Amino acid sequence: PLRGVGPGGIPVAAPDLFSAPVTGALHYTIDIGQFTDQLHPALAPTTLWGYNPARGLGGNVTPTHLGGIIVAQKGQPLQITFRNNLPNRHIIPLDSSIMGADPARQNRTTVHLHGGLVPWISDGGPFTWWDPSGNRGLSFLNNQVLNPSAALNEAEYYYPNNQSARMLWYHDHAFGITRINAYAGIASAYLIRDDFEGSLRNRGLPDFIENGGREIPIVIQDKIFVDGATIGAMDPTWPGLRTTGTLWYPHVYERNRWKLQGNAKGGNLIPPDPSVIPEMFGDTMLANGTVYPEAPVEPRRYRLRILNACNARFLNLQLYVDDGSLDGITLNAAGTPANAKGPDFLVIGTEGGFLPKPVLVPSNVPFNPATLGGSLVTAPAERFDIIVDFTGFEGKKMILYNDAPAPFPMGDPRNDYFPGAPKNPTITNPGFGPNTRQIMRFAVATTATVPADPPLAITVATDLTPGIDPFLVPQVPGLPLPPPPGVTVRQLTLNETFDASGRLIQMLGTNVPLVKGTFGRGYMDPATESPRAGTVEVWQIANLTGDTHPIHFHLVNVQILSRQPFQVPSYNGTPSYTAPPRGPDATEVGWKDTVRMNPGEVTTVIMKFDLPAVPFTVPASPRTGGHEYVWHCHILEHEEHDMMRPLIVT
Ligand code: C2O
Ligand code: CU
Repeated sequence: PLRGVGPGGIPVAAPDLFSAPVTGALHYTIDIGQFTDQLHPALAPTTLWGYNPARGLGGNVTPTHLGGIIVAQKGQPLQITFRNNLPNRHIIPLDSSIMGADPARQNRTTVHLHGGLVPWISDGGPFTWWDPSGNRGLSFLNNQVLNPSAALNEAEYYYPNNQSARMLWYHDHAFGITRINAYAGIASAYLIRDDFEGSLRNRGLPDFIENGGREIPIVIQDKIFVDGATIGAMDPTWPGLRTTGTLWYPHVYERNRWKLQGNAKGGNLIPPDPSVIPEMFGDTMLANGTVYPEAPVEPRRYRLRILNACNARFLNLQLYVDDGSLDGITLNAAGTPANAKGPDFLVIGTEGGFLPKPVLVPSNVPFNPATLGGSLVTAPAERFDIIVDFTGFEGKKMILYNDAPAPFPMGDPRNDYFPGAPKNPTITNPGFGPNTRQIMRFAVATTATVPADPPLAITVATDLTPGIDPFLVPQVPGLPLPPPPGVTVRQLTLNETFDASGRLIQMLGTNVPLVKGTFGRGYMDPATESPRAGTVEVWQIANLTGDTHPIHFHLVNVQILSRQPFQVPSYNGTPSYTAPPRGPDATEVGWKDTVRMNPGEVTTVIMKFDLPAVPFTVPASPRTGGHEYVWHCHILEHEEHDMMRPLIVT
């Protein structure tokens, strides 16, 4: 069954009395280590890395994939001691040609609270790593300020939680190995509660999961598992346990598959093995850390907190009634499900909390290549807070279905696995799969065991703005807004080129080439985005590549002003637009921390660079002299190679 939160499910971290921090915060202790967990009845236990609440109520439980969910209250800061107990050797092969990846230090980690308004020393940027023996990047500053008696394997973090109710998540961000650390399992969810959210329960919002209510966080990932014999023959140097259920991550750069242009540009360059790959697309879907689970539900109203935690896979989430066929889904001639649809989605929030007004999204809209839309199209790191009602579906099974192309939006059929699709010849999945169309099921009980829900007084007309952090601009779905007068406007670019090994590499840049003919800059090039604290800026980001990139901003949430197509080939620093701008989708109106930026479009966002108020002095970064954050693509293989830039607030 789907692992919920709490006893028997995903462990919820709880405060401990281990120390009374000088900051007056509640204190937690969370371990980061290696463990095994059985992710499907047909799989032997899988070796994973991940978080485990170490002390406090519910502490010292058996570590669980994605364990350590944190439920925080707005205005109640938390201080967390993270203890790095990772073994010396990674469970995923490490490409040491990637900047920052040191084969002698495979167990570095750092903790990023994604979407959190936190001081930069606790932001978990790439340079703030530490390892179990006390080797450290900038994480020495966390301990100097927050816990001078920290042990060698410890790093101390402070989270103010001064944000409206929302779903954040926390995950590894260590320089050069983020993509394999997160894939290995170092990620979990983090909910902030506030009074407004609490009051919505009087209007029919299901009660919180920590109260046993019908709220379910759903963390979606795609992974690859192989059996021991296959991996032994195929990959004798594989570091993990060689049992059925071994986590596998592709590490051979297939030049012929990934763009022959790579050869053209790179000549006969041979990429290293292990090598980073352009994007990691698994063949097996997981929800809340297990493979294709089923959630028993009442024929009642539920609140689902959805997080796309895939390395690279976009999702177009739909809900269909299982039709009783072998796989539960029957495709019609157009390749879309002929099944009856499940309940529609009432979207009430995204990354930055509630939408100003809920949006009703039909649950059966296939991916549309012309609009790049569907039902709930979600990129890595995006979240959706939705209400669904299973009333009337008594005794039925529902399939949470995905048909988004991978890569997005052009797609490659070899990354789209469904029953009957040819298997990727390099991997085998014993017992199930491959299948990336079906994520999980809901099994609706034939009769309810709980009273009927009170009427839902949250509709598409409900004003949720009292529960939202103040906006910079009032948005209207579909309506583009020009940058407000007097605001700094930056011209930025998303770029794709080839690295010294002839491999595809993605970069961020400005509209001024760093070297002739290419706008892209790498993470280690000098910072160009250095706003002053407290200022508002507008960023116009021109996507010169063929992919949609989910661009994530640390420190700030942004509002989308517009998207506008431009002529890519002739781009020389100033876009020539080919169509009028359009405004954000209805489900994108509000605060976001991750924004889909489509190929051939300039996406314009607005944000304010406020630093969080904290009860201690935050030192400047010795590396850059400012408050050192980053902005990057959240396709983790892009982020790491090399689609990330410093964001230095001065
Ligand atoms: Cu979720 Cu910088 O990342
Ligand atoms: Cu990207």
